[in-house]
Amino acid sequence: MDGGSDTPGLSQPLQQLIISLVGMPGSGKSTVGRQMARQMGVPFVDSDSEIEIRLGEPIRGFFERVGEAEFRDIESAVIDEILQRDSEFVLATGGGAVLRESNRQLLHKHSTVLYLRSTPEELFRRLRHDTQRPLLQVRDPLQKLRELYAARNPLYRRCAHFVLETGRPSVHGLVNMALMQLELAGILDPTRVAATVGAEKAS
Ligand code: S3P
Repeated sequence: MDGGSDTPGLSQPLQQLIISLVGMPGSGKSTVGRQMARQMGVPFVDSDSEIEIRLGEPIRGFFERVGEAEFRDIESAVIDEILQRDSEFVLATGGGAVLRESNRQLLHKHSTVLYLRSTPEELFRRLRHDTQRPLLQVRDPLQKLRELYAARNPLYRRCAHFVLETGRPSVHGLVNMALMQLELAGILDPTRVAATVGAEKAS
């Protein structure tokens, strides 16, 4: 469970099927989120993809051309718009979505937030050949990941209802752990997942 919250009184998981994933770049938010959504039988939403549709260009180009501050404004607006949708879904957020307190509060209030926690070293192993993430196009990406982690880990924890360690398990294992947490908390009906998985096997 979380180690404190920006939003006293809102630290309990909500009884609704809107799940948000937060965590560092490369922690597996999109991969895990897509598979969770499939198993839960709800749509998967990726805020970075929606931002790129709005920008009409990849995030990296916009970041370099226009700047981070403008990117963060658009990110906040997109997250706000997504969380107002009257439907169930799993949302993967960008790694910097928790930087603004208003985003953290919105995510925490309107969804059940899972923090996928990875160490900087683990992230570096996954991202060392990445060319798309603007913040990591630096001479020493491991050092940058360490700095980002030090600044953001407390924010992810504050925003989250649950923390999942990504270190050991496979993606499949992580998805199962996440679903189990949600089931134990009474947020997800186990028969719903079983039915979805059964339906997948049958097809
Ligand atoms: C960012 C992470 C990216 C993307 C943007 C900024 C960050 O998302 O939103 O490049 O500040 O860490 P991922 O976490 O999916 O890489």
